[in-house]
Amino acid sequence: MTAILSALPALAADRVASPDGKISLDFSLTADGAPQYTVDYRGEELVKASALGFEMKDARGFDSGFTVESITRASSDTMWAPVWGENDSIRDNYNAMTVQLVNRRYGTHLNVEFRAYDDGIGLRYVFPKQKKKRLTVTDELTEFAMPGDITAWWIPGDYDTQEYEYIRSSLSGIRRHADDAHMGNVSSSMFSPTGVQTSLMLKANDSTYLNIHEAALVDFPVMHLNLDDTDFVFRSWLTPGRDGDKAHIKLPFSTPWRVIMIGDRATDILASNLVLNLNEPTKYTDTSWIKPVKYIGVWWEMIAGGKQWSYTDAENFDLATFDYSKAKPHGRHSANTDNVKRYIDFAAANGFDQVLVEGWNVGWEDWLGKEKDYVFDFVTPYPDFDLKGLNDYARSKGVRLMMHHESSGSIPNYERWMDRAYDLMDRYGYNAVKSGYVGNILPKGENHYSQNSVNHYLRAVQKAADHHIMVNAHEAARPTGLSRTYPNLIGNESAMGTEYQNMSPGHVTILPFTRLKGGPMDFTPGIFEADLSKYNPGNHEHKRATVANQLALYVTMYSPLQMAADLPEHYEAKADAFQFIKDVPVDWKRSIYLDAEPGEYLVVAREDKHSDDWYVGGVTNADARNYDLRLDFLEPGATYRARLYMDGPTAHYDRNQDKYIITEFDVTSADTLPIHMAPGGGFALSLDKL
Ligand code: NOJ
Ligand code: CA
Repeated sequence: MTAILSALPALAADRVASPDGKISLDFSLTADGAPQYTVDYRGEELVKASALGFEMKDARGFDSGFTVESITRASSDTMWAPVWGENDSIRDNYNAMTVQLVNRRYGTHLNVEFRAYDDGIGLRYVFPKQKKKRLTVTDELTEFAMPGDITAWWIPGDYDTQEYEYIRSSLSGIRRHADDAHMGNVSSSMFSPTGVQTSLMLKANDSTYLNIHEAALVDFPVMHLNLDDTDFVFRSWLTPGRDGDKAHIKLPFSTPWRVIMIGDRATDILASNLVLNLNEPTKYTDTSWIKPVKYIGVWWEMIAGGKQWSYTDAENFDLATFDYSKAKPHGRHSANTDNVKRYIDFAAANGFDQVLVEGWNVGWEDWLGKEKDYVFDFVTPYPDFDLKGLNDYARSKGVRLMMHHESSGSIPNYERWMDRAYDLMDRYGYNAVKSGYVGNILPKGENHYSQNSVNHYLRAVQKAADHHIMVNAHEAARPTGLSRTYPNLIGNESAMGTEYQNMSPGHVTILPFTRLKGGPMDFTPGIFEADLSKYNPGNHEHKRATVANQLALYVTMYSPLQMAADLPEHYEAKADAFQFIKDVPVDWKRSIYLDAEPGEYLVVAREDKHSDDWYVGGVTNADARNYDLRLDFLEPGATYRARLYMDGPTAHYDRNQDKYIITEFDVTSADTLPIHMAPGGGFALSLDKL
């Protein structure tokens, strides 16, 4: 490891402050010419002296020995309108300072660009054109030196997955909890007992919340953080590629932004648009084909219900030689024409845009078996799936099918088939694909979060745009606000979602502070039947959430892509509660985070983008909570018809999940509603302007 020079005294500092003056960043060089920065918040040091720079395999002079060549400053205050989002317009207001560094001994140049916003700091490295045309990064030296042993909500570092439950601990507790954090599945890519992932939620004290993440992850590996728990300094830890190097860059080059969101209240972090603001405006001239999507799918019956993606039981399966026409179906294949029709009918009757169908294509017989390169072709349907007939049927009912591409981690195979796969979608009228990267990434030794994989995920989104296709990628690198630039990236998974059937109730009170800071999640809420053994005797898991909590998630977990994940018959059995899922919009004019504490609870109000109606959602962790909901965000003087979906007095995430109460009444902005949230519960409220 590199010597850390940040403890040395700084020479003169250069400062950039946020427009409101509350946040300021000081840049300086140590006596050895190593770049460093500090961040002050309300006049107190929040980020202590933190190093900047790189170690390269093929060059020296990117860590120290620098002098400042020049400093340029800029300010910007603009508004922009996202194609979809929590708000229909976003203010982008910052002061910037770019420090141009030169190391005369080695002839190297490195610029550091800082932006100070009212809601935090962004910094990135720009490698200008210089003698070296290419560089191999072996280490990024960026530090985030915390002000002490503060509180964190974290998941362990891993080069391949974010599918973990969050742990709340002091920084000094991270090492102690490392084994629990891995939940027994110590992944081979666990890199350090004090390694954590971003977005990392932190609380310094009751009036200082912060969050470290990155923005605009393009052509670079995912950044994790490794904590030095003797002095509470996080250091950037980039995901290596299969050659062991971190990144190969071609100059000129700009790294992703390193982001520190800062606020007085937890809700400030939720409301922050910093990650989006640090991404480039969209490059698409026509975005009219990009539309938020509410969907159902042939899915939960496989995940929880014992049905199958595959068509037949086959031993020693090889897609290249297998003859499906001679195969005997095992009879549990969900994606069969009759069943898909049943879902299409249900979608059409209830106003859904799309029906996802997984298991429609050949290859599922041994999809994870041997890390084969040729697993799927993404174009050949199973014999019992009528590709053309079902798409025609759906379209005749005003619904579309949603495509599914499970790559099972074989990126080379997916890339080989991608053009043909998107062409097929064009031919049959699909405009959205759920893709996935389950299993080890191929080529062997590559990681889910390495530079090559990151490049693939974006290539898939860009190519999809050429076909006017929207992408929802599971198991890809967690989002970093790229949906601003590429708004056809309408969803990602990259965290534990509903498919983990028994998560702790607090999970959904942390995700908006962490995973969602980079972009929307295809969480797939809406499970109404919590006892999964009722319809699948083999499944002893329980969904640990009340029905009211499941409704609230459509508001608390912002996404332009929302699934109603349960089976049609479970919605038909609770049609009164299902009404909320039918009504709730997936695109918003304005969002107001009313109250929150990570891991505890969260209440948010959102105004529909296409009407004057409001929707409010609240969720709590395993603790019951009473909450006075003030409606003062409503238009004064107007009357709204309220429909409130609330946990009943006996509701609980482990029993009586369906004890909800629905009431209807009129309200104005002067009203306050007393709300009860059960353990693992929540509430949902629709407010139709009269
Ligand atoms: C994992 C995804 O998260 C899940 O939604 C999908 O059903 C399976 N992979 C199969 O592709
Ligand atoms: Ca997954």
